[in-house]
Amino acid sequence: MDEFRFIERSGSNAEKYTLRERLFGTEAVQPMWVADMDIATPECVIHAVQERLLHPILGYEIMSERAFEAQIEWMREQHAFTMQRQWLSYSPSVVASIGCAIRALSEEGDEVIVMDPVYPPFYSMVRDNNRHLILHPLKQDNEGIYRFDINALASQITSKTKLLLLCSPHNPIGRVWSRDELNALGTLCLEHNIRIISDEIHSDIVFKPHHLPIAALSKELLENTIMLLGPGKTFNMAGFSISTVCIPSETLREAYDKERHRVHFGDGAVLSHVAFEAAYTAGKSWHTKLVEHLSANIKIIETWCEEHPRIKFRPPEATYLAWLDCKSLGLGDRELREFFVRKAGLGLSPGLSFGKEGSGFMRLNFAVPTSVLCHALDRLDKALND
Ligand SMILES: Cc1ncc(COP(=O)(O)O)c(C=O)c1O
Repeated sequence: MDEFRFIERSGSNAEKYTLRERLFGTEAVQPMWVADMDIATPECVIHAVQERLLHPILGYEIMSERAFEAQIEWMREQHAFTMQRQWLSYSPSVVASIGCAIRALSEEGDEVIVMDPVYPPFYSMVRDNNRHLILHPLKQDNEGIYRFDINALASQITSKTKLLLLCSPHNPIGRVWSRDELNALGTLCLEHNIRIISDEIHSDIVFKPHHLPIAALSKELLENTIMLLGPGKTFNMAGFSISTVCIPSETLREAYDKERHRVHFGDGAVLSHVAFEAAYTAGKSWHTKLVEHLSANIKIIETWCEEHPRIKFRPPEATYLAWLDCKSLGLGDRELREFFVRKAGLGLSPGLSFGKEGSGFMRLNFAVPTSVLCHALDRLDKALND
């Protein structure tokens, strides 16, 4: 079966399609926004779910030890990071775990560092839990690489600063943070007794050789980090609502667990458990092909942008999200969005939705068959020429 062929999703309940009218005011857009893929979930996952359904009882179940072991093995192989079973717990959603960790490790009124631009729930989880945001702007250097400024960040810290929300790799800018960068951040956090919540959901879709979990850098950082992981992005199975939280420190784990029990995450869903285990156990060759496919799509976007210099693009080091710098078009953010929707017929995520620093950018989800990507770029070409 060809996983990368066009699959019609518009008749399904896919959020990417059903919310088109609400988000873009029209159904007549090729949706390239929410971060799931228009690529079939691995056959091994589908097969495991079908097999499970042969058993006619779907009562309460817990995640099997085999499922946790499969993820441990995956992390060891892919990221040379060895997790212990007792560090891990089930969560229905990485975002829910972020909220839970914020409540567990800080008090109302405390400050949480968030880098701008970033995945929007980073902001809302802080605000909705009555904590204050310390916004640290990420800026592009001369080569167009996004960087944080460690000295400026240090000067933003106060006695109320308790947490850093790290997106690693970073959505939407596609950075894989280097060892030096993570070391600088980690050291700063340790100096100021700031705990790190590290969202690593994108860590398997990496084009640069290595993603490094910040917890892997030192014993101190291992003990200072809550790490969030999941198969949702890696295997295109976000609809299963399953992820894990990895907390090596017993003290942080106890605090987190207390909060987790308060909101009752439960043990998850029968079909998600088997899907999770199958993906991490048998999804490797699919994943290798996926990364190849996405790399080829990046090349296509790169070539296209070379021919259309008004849109600037730096290939992401991770994620299947292209962060397009459209500032040269000279449009305001609202006009830019309208241009993409009305003129090009494309439903992208507006840069501004990721924070102030996202102004003038659009995020394009390129986890689509190559034919769909080329068609979208043709539409954009025509709109630019009009
Ligand atoms: C950085 C990041 N974290 C978390 C999520 C969502 O995770 P979940 O669906 O498990 O809440 C996304 C989805 O795009 C994401 O980009």
